[in-house]
Amino acid sequence: MKTLVILGAGQMGMAAFELINSASWQVLAIGDNDPDKWTCSQDISPSDIPVICPGQIPPICPVKEALACHPDMVLIGLMGEERSRKLMAQARQAGYGGTFTLLSDLYSLLDVRGRTLRLAADRIRDQKIPGCVAELGVYKGDTARLMNLFFPDRTLYLFDTFEGFDERDLVRDEIGMRKDMFKDTSADLVAGRLPFPEKAVIRKGYFPDTAEGLDDIRYAFVSLDPDLYAPLLAGLSWFYPRLNPGGMILVHDYNNKQFPGAKMAVQDFEKESGPLKLIPLADLHGSCVIIK
Ligand SMILES: C[S@@+](CC[C@H](N)C(=O)[O-])C[C@H]1O[C@@H](n2cnc3c(N)ncnc32)[C@H](O)[C@@H]1O
Repeated sequence: MKTLVILGAGQMGMAAFELINSASWQVLAIGDNDPDKWTCSQDISPSDIPVICPGQIPPICPVKEALACHPDMVLIGLMGEERSRKLMAQARQAGYGGTFTLLSDLYSLLDVRGRTLRLAADRIRDQKIPGCVAELGVYKGDTARLMNLFFPDRTLYLFDTFEGFDERDLVRDEIGMRKDMFKDTSADLVAGRLPFPEKAVIRKGYFPDTAEGLDDIRYAFVSLDPDLYAPLLAGLSWFYPRLNPGGMILVHDYNNKQFPGAKMAVQDFEKESGPLKLIPLADLHGSCVIIK
């Protein structure tokens, strides 16, 4: 059994921890610079490393203490390149001389959510599920591009303000830094990235207002990625009744602690609609798939 320390106890680090193959690797500790995340601020010496059973969360402690476990490898559980580099430098300074794996490299290399989308598209085509495809929350079109590629014959409806979050939706969720996120995009930029732009209908503006006039459209696949409670609940209320049987909705961030509004919206929607057939995915963003 090889041993591992994860540095970074945020959404990504913890999601990576959940993905570790416990048959081959033992996670000794998770290190973080944020004291609010620590569950253990004691020194962990190699002699008293707690035995962690699979499924149990190991101690979350300061970076230096985590490295005192002398792991075989350190996984840098952050996304940004610069932040990852800083954390590696900190680990080296603390005396760690072993190898690093960067979660950001694995994330850019292996696309669990994109692959799920491909498999879902194949299934929808094989089962001859009729309907259009749509995404609410497009930003620069990473997911929209894949949807357009995997459903080349279907109309793709794209809903976004293309100016970031709307004040009305930020009331319920934490405002903080989110006010300025996702503004650096445009409908033209997204259209320019699509392999089949002639199949796209771009609805720029505030959803659900931008769904006006589309009452009769039915869908086979929908991606919901507006991050926040209010537009996600509005998205489920709009698209689920218009989803053809066998169709699927990919909900981003369902199990993402950074965006708790996503799960709350699904739960509140279930209170009205009854229980959904929902499969959580093991991607780093905590997505889920709802099947009708
Ligand atoms: C996480 S980003 C989407 C990322 C995108 N799915 C991708 O694949 O990269 C969230 C987007 O949701 C949009 N959004 C959030 N609430 C919205 C609303 N009520 N109406 C329209 N767009 C909204 C934001 O403008 C932002 O571009």
